[in-house]
Amino acid sequence: MVSILDSEGRLRELCARQGQEHVFRFWDQLDDAQREQLLTELDSLDFEEVSRLVAQHIKGQGAEMPLPHLEPAPFVRLPRTAEEVQEHRQARQRGEEVIRAGQVAAFLVAGGQGTRLGYDGPKGSFPIGVLSSKTFFQLFAEQIFATRRRYATDVPWYIMTSRDNDEVTRRYFATHNNFGLPAKDIIFLQQGQMPAIDQEGRLLMESPHALALAPDGHGGAIRALKRSGALADMARRGVRYISHFQVDNVLIRIIDPDFLGFHVFAGSQMSSRMVRKRSADERVGVFCLVDGRLRVIEYSDLPEELAEARRPDGELQFNAGNIAIHIYDVAFVEQLNQRDYELPFHRAWKKVPFVNELSHRIRPRQPNANKFEMFVFDALPAARKTLVMEVAREDEFGPVKSLTGEDSVETAQRDQMRLAARWCRAAGVEAETDPDGVPRFKIEISPLFATCQDEFIEKMKAAGLKAVSRDTYFE
Ligand code: UTP
Repeated sequence: MVSILDSEGRLRELCARQGQEHVFRFWDQLDDAQREQLLTELDSLDFEEVSRLVAQHIKGQGAEMPLPHLEPAPFVRLPRTAEEVQEHRQARQRGEEVIRAGQVAAFLVAGGQGTRLGYDGPKGSFPIGVLSSKTFFQLFAEQIFATRRRYATDVPWYIMTSRDNDEVTRRYFATHNNFGLPAKDIIFLQQGQMPAIDQEGRLLMESPHALALAPDGHGGAIRALKRSGALADMARRGVRYISHFQVDNVLIRIIDPDFLGFHVFAGSQMSSRMVRKRSADERVGVFCLVDGRLRVIEYSDLPEELAEARRPDGELQFNAGNIAIHIYDVAFVEQLNQRDYELPFHRAWKKVPFVNELSHRIRPRQPNANKFEMFVFDALPAARKTLVMEVAREDEFGPVKSLTGEDSVETAQRDQMRLAARWCRAAGVEAETDPDGVPRFKIEISPLFATCQDEFIEKMKAAGLKAVSRDTYFE
């Protein structure tokens, strides 16, 4: 049998050629299992990619591209006129048809490290339900369960994990019996890893026998869907549309018929949801057109004068904020992989623990390493046709990045309750709120009760409830 240990000579030589021989520094102290781990990691590393990134981003040989001419991207706005309301209605019908036909898969990207939240466990297993304390994963599972029930169809759910959270995520679902979803319809796939690299272009070691590796960004999804066989699985099931969402958006509407309908009607290959930016300096990427192609420009790259430019009616010119909700075609992802289309890597300068020459583990106080990530929205310019569609922030965007402060557990729980209070009011149920719209009593609506306002109104017709006068969980 061939063992990876037989590759020692080849990999040593490769590392020496690439100026990375230091990774063998502790070789004599390692046992066989540790040697295997190190060699396996080195074997799966794309050294050419690494040296390209070092040359481009660290040694600065690929001079920064000047920012191209940017124009604000057009988008389908929230319906205001009778005609727009009608368009939305037709889109919903079309969206419902493709859902019923089993052509839609849910796709959760959950491979991130969630460092800002600082929670011990996958971010999806964080309890976020205001009254129920249900976790993100459970709320998502219940939403998918409710969609399957409503449309009497299958909605396979693909979940992207990464090396460090894959096993614990799978175990979490198994322990909870997949929250009632059939096991055949929950498909896990693992994204790739990228090495952390110091300012000299050298690979950092996390331990004497392991490289410091981190997930390759949510854009790693494009490769991972192909490499894992998930795309082929989708095609086998007759899935044509992938509904992409993030693990930390508590208000996400996972399968949205209106959005799907617009995507299908437009013949779009990749579509994105947007919210209007709150202010010129809100830290979200912005949808722009570059030579007629849709792109997201990160907030840090958008020149101040553009970020602040206003239209005659006072609205920001570049106002379409990216909230990381997309639909893309299975065929489009297939095509990206066939053409060997490479999403660009973005570099971040971060604190990465490492072992020094004396094999002491160091936790740096200052950033010490370059990390490289791909972003899924960088696939937009490769699409023949795209679409951007507005959604009201308060209806679909409740991000959780940290425990407190901006985009936190606190704000997301308020977002949930505000939404619940609005649905109550729309259903003719009194719900007293503070000036911010947060109800006086806690309210939570289980996805199993209703996944959208219309469904909630339907349910409440029969309930005869006049007002919310204590903490109330609609389940
Ligand atoms: P974030 O940008 O919030 O990154 O991810 P993060 O790693 O989860 O959190 P921090 O920055 O360490 O605090 C946004 C979404 O993209 C997913 C995350 O799981 C989350 O759903 N993601 C991010 C991946 O799936 N893979 C990655 O490599 C990075």
